[in-house]
Amino acid sequence: MPHRIKVVMKESAREAAVEAARLIAAVVRSKSRPVLGLATGGTPELTYAELARMHREEALSFAAVRTFNLDEYAGLGPDHAQSYRQFMQRHLFAHVDVRPWNTRVLDGLASSVPAECEAFERQIVAAGGVDLWLLGIGGNGHIAFNEPGSTVDSRTRLVTLTPETIAANSDGRFFSDPAEVPRCALTAGIATIREARSIVLLATGRKKAEAVRQSLHGLFSERCPASLLQDHPDCTFVLDSEAASLLGKA
Ligand code: PGA
Repeated sequence: MPHRIKVVMKESAREAAVEAARLIAAVVRSKSRPVLGLATGGTPELTYAELARMHREEALSFAAVRTFNLDEYAGLGPDHAQSYRQFMQRHLFAHVDVRPWNTRVLDGLASSVPAECEAFERQIVAAGGVDLWLLGIGGNGHIAFNEPGSTVDSRTRLVTLTPETIAANSDGRFFSDPAEVPRCALTAGIATIREARSIVLLATGRKKAEAVRQSLHGLFSERCPASLLQDHPDCTFVLDSEAASLLGKA
């Protein structure tokens, strides 16, 4: 089955980030009550900087926007510097007019993880569903913290991170030492993500090229979680030239 994913290729990581921001801004401007799904990690940083610029210079308002974030480390509270809540504050929320009470990041310190995960799913439904979910991709093809083997019907839940993911997040960018990286996380599931009306997966850099190739041209398979987007009716991969460098090769 050929995939239905639209592929947009840009030369540089910066141009790819601007394209992703443009797609997000179009949703924000076209809806009275936009619902965004957001991602953390190195990849979306430039996209958030561009959205902040659009807010300052082009009157892009987030006042009516609701946001849901993909994931959070288990055991890190919202005030922890490495928590994804703090990442979102630093890179986006502090720079735009989004209302704090309209931003939802899973609570890594929730006393009942199942109740927290169920509440997250219910709140997405109550908000009317996600209009656009921004994703990154792991070098192993993960989306959010859905590591290889995550099922297409998976929902928000507690997961164990793979050694590759722990290593990728402790290369000095987020944690300096692998021992500091939490072993578990709360993550939106593949089904949670697939229910978004549109999906934008942003991938930049050579390290993502093989995962991008597998996702687009490999089997629809739980071995590569991003390949489970192949049949989504409105999914766009925005790539820089390095992330796209293995496309078209056998
Ligand atoms: P990165 O992470 O943007 O930091 O590369 C992406 C991901 O693991 O989903």
